[in-house]
Amino acid sequence: MYADLAGKRALVTGGTRGIGRAVALGLARAGTHVVVSHQRESEAAESLRRELKETGGNHLVMTADATDQAALAALLDATGKHLGGLDIVVNNVGTINHVPYHELSVADWNWVLATNLTATHLVTQGALPLLGDRGSVVNVGSGAGVVGVPLRAHYTAAKTGLIGLTRSLAKELGAKGIRVNLVTPGVTETDHAAGMPDHVRAMYTNRIPLGRLGDPAEVANVVLFLASDVSSYVNGANFTVDGGI
Ligand SMILES: NC(=O)c1ccc[n+]([C@@H]2O[C@H](COP(=O)([O-])OP(=O)(O)OC[C@H]3O[C@@H](n4cnc5c(N)ncnc54)[C@H](OP(=O)(O)O)[C@@H]3O)[C@@H](O)[C@H]2O)c1
Repeated sequence: MYADLAGKRALVTGGTRGIGRAVALGLARAGTHVVVSHQRESEAAESLRRELKETGGNHLVMTADATDQAALAALLDATGKHLGGLDIVVNNVGTINHVPYHELSVADWNWVLATNLTATHLVTQGALPLLGDRGSVVNVGSGAGVVGVPLRAHYTAAKTGLIGLTRSLAKELGAKGIRVNLVTPGVTETDHAAGMPDHVRAMYTNRIPLGRLGDPAEVANVVLFLASDVSSYVNGANFTVDGGI
C-alpha cells in the first residue's frame, strides 16, 4: 500500500490476534520486517508465524508479557539482535475487563494500567536506541479514553493516559525526527466482539453511522499510513477509526 514500508523494520506489541495481527500482516505484506510480541503460545501465534513466513520477510514472533518489565527489556533486546534497529513501533497491546468501580481491585487496576499504558511507555523508551534519529511510533488507544465508559474506569484512565503520552512524546521526540501518533479505534470485530451478546452488538450498530463494527484491517490501514513516510508531517495526531459513532 505504501512503497516506503518495504525493507523497514517494525515492532508490533500484542500482534497475534485482532488489530495487532492485522497491523503485523499489513506491514509484512508491504515488505516490512516485523517482530511481533504476544502473551502465550497458541494456535493464533503459530498461524501468524505461517502467514508471516509467506510474505518472505525476516520476521520473529515471540512471547513478552506486557506487564513484566524484564520481559519487555528482553523483547527489545531480541528485536535489536533480529532486525539490527527499528523504523516503526506499534504499541498495540491492550487488555480490558468490566468491573463496577466500587468493586475495582488494585490488582485489576495495576494489570490494566500496566498492559495498556506502562507497556507503551517502556517499549517506546526502550526502543529509542533502536530508532536512532528517525522513526514512527504509533500508539493504539480507544474511544473509551476519549468519552469515558462505565465499568471500565481503569481501561479508560489508561487509554486517556495514552493521549497525554502521545502528545508529550510528539513534542519531545519530534526534535529527534521521531513522530508519535495515536490511533483510536471504535468497536472492532475481534475476539472480544465475537463474544458480545446480540443486544449489545445491536446497540452499537444502531449508534454507529456506518451501521457495522469495524474490521481490524480498517484500523491497521490507518496505522500503516502513520507508520509510512506518506504521513511525514503528521505528529502528535489522534486518528479516530470508529465509523463515526
Ligand atoms: N477490539 C476493539 O473493539 C477495540 C476497541 C478500541 C480499542 N482497542 C484496542 O486495540 C488494541 C488491540 O485490541 P484487540 O481487541 O485487537 O486485542 P485482542 O484481539 O484481545 O488481542 C490482544 C493481543 O494482545 C496480546 N496480549 C494481551 N495481553 C498481553 C500481555 N499481557 N502481554 C503480551 N501480549 C498480550 C494477545 O496475545 P495472546 O494471544 O498471546 O494473549 C493478543 O496478541 C488494544 O490496545 C485495545 O485496547 C480495541
